[in-house]
Amino acid sequence: MSAASADKIPTGINGLDEVTGGGLPKGGLIIIAGNPGTGKTLLSAGFLYHGAVNYGEKGIYVSFAESKEAFFRNMRSLGLNFEEIEREGKFRFVDMLTVRGEAVSAVLEMILREVGEFGAKRLVIDSFSAMAQAFREPHEARVILHTILSRVTRLLGCTTLLIVEVPYGENKIGLGIEEFVADGIIHLRRNELEGGRIIRDLEILKMRGAPIYEARNIFTLKGGFKALPPFEARFTEKPSRFNPIPDKGDYFSTGSPNLDEMLGGGYPKGSSVLIEIADPYVSTLQYHLVIYPTIWNFLAQGRGAIIFPSAGIDYSLILRRVKGAGLGDEEINDLLRICVKEYAGLKEAPYIVRCRGVTFSEDYAKCVEVERDIREKTHQPLLHFVGADMLIDTYGQMEALSAIRNHAARVREKGDLYMILVKPGYENISQTLGAFSEVYLKVTRRYGSVLVYGVKPRTPLYALEMDVSRGYFMPKLTQII
Ligand SMILES: Nc1ncnc2c1ncn2[C@@H]1O[C@H](COP(=O)(O)OP(=O)(O)OP(=O)(O)O)[C@@H](O)[C@H]1O
Ligand SMILES: [Mg+2]
Repeated sequence: MSAASADKIPTGINGLDEVTGGGLPKGGLIIIAGNPGTGKTLLSAGFLYHGAVNYGEKGIYVSFAESKEAFFRNMRSLGLNFEEIEREGKFRFVDMLTVRGEAVSAVLEMILREVGEFGAKRLVIDSFSAMAQAFREPHEARVILHTILSRVTRLLGCTTLLIVEVPYGENKIGLGIEEFVADGIIHLRRNELEGGRIIRDLEILKMRGAPIYEARNIFTLKGGFKALPPFEARFTEKPSRFNPIPDKGDYFSTGSPNLDEMLGGGYPKGSSVLIEIADPYVSTLQYHLVIYPTIWNFLAQGRGAIIFPSAGIDYSLILRRVKGAGLGDEEINDLLRICVKEYAGLKEAPYIVRCRGVTFSEDYAKCVEVERDIREKTHQPLLHFVGADMLIDTYGQMEALSAIRNHAARVREKGDLYMILVKPGYENISQTLGAFSEVYLKVTRRYGSVLVYGVKPRTPLYALEMDVSRGYFMPKLTQII
């Protein structure tokens, strides 16, 4: 996280200070631009509200678009109590809905005097576009902008957000000169990702005094405006043992409360779960956040897990992950089985199942035997995990697909759980596998963020972050709306 510096003003909005390199230029003029409904008002409201509540800075909201009642009501539904900060003398709402022409300059003059007297440190004009329309000549609005706003910002040190409406269909801001006088420009966008899921990104086009490493970041309007900083891998400082989550009725918990909630309970018992990595730059750690809690959740409840790893994942990484969640040698020896293609020097261990990789039927027979042993020992459902890429590379695509399909039927019959991982380069098989899987998740990336969504059951998009607060890694999912 970037430290706030003397010439920065922290917005107090989740994630926004991180992605802007510590906040907004203090006493600066910042343009917030975007199409209708992209979150301009929510961002500005968060800026004023958190300014008042977290930093004791007074704010003024000048509205050309929304009545005070509508604004207060909408903000209250998001948990921002503007009545309260108004009562405490930290906030003023200026209604300019019906003010036109000359009167605008007069009212603005008055506001600016007020900024000085009230001691406002934050000002929002929502919107400059509507204000400009109140004038007969557009250049009048520009004159106002220059003469008055520059006084507010530069002389009074009041940081000002100027909202600029970008009409639908237009992707550039295209104001004319405002961009040049502004100290910062943030452009809010709304797009769609596969099948109409909403994805939002903010682009920092300009920000005085801050190096911006990621020009674009994902944000969400869930519960107000929140920016999502690029994915960050975190260390587990005080490792502790994974705390299992019991089954919920007909569902196995995924091991992650966030994933369970996203899926409406977890993974159905007896189901096949297809997890497709839809972007080659999703890292191993990133998709392991989605997979490992489920593996831990089986093992920590005394249930077996049989893993046929994906290419490039050797058994020592699997062991490290399992031990990282505090599982002991005895549990591992009893419950975990990793199928490894034989090579010279492959060590002997209870958790290693040696496969010759010559014929599928030979290796499969071995796995079935291992499965039977663990089932007899535990009398519990089992987790089966397969990296489809490795299966295809070893036995060929036809054989691999029919093997997965047959195994899925067996898993259903036993009431176990089957997790199938598909990596980039093997997408052609996901349609086939997706057709018989009860759950189909995709993990992808956009800018610095990792995204997860359900194709089956259909879910909105979620941004994936790494949470290590429990002493082991967990996926933290934030819905994007
Ligand atoms: N109280 C709320 N609860 C949940 N979602 C909300 C709430 N208020 C707004 N939203 C969502 O945020 C979206 C846009 O919010 P916002 O009003 O900040 O956009 P805007 O860019 O100011 O739009 P406009 O150009 O129309 O003024 C809405 O379309 C809605 O989806
Ligand atoms: Mg608005």
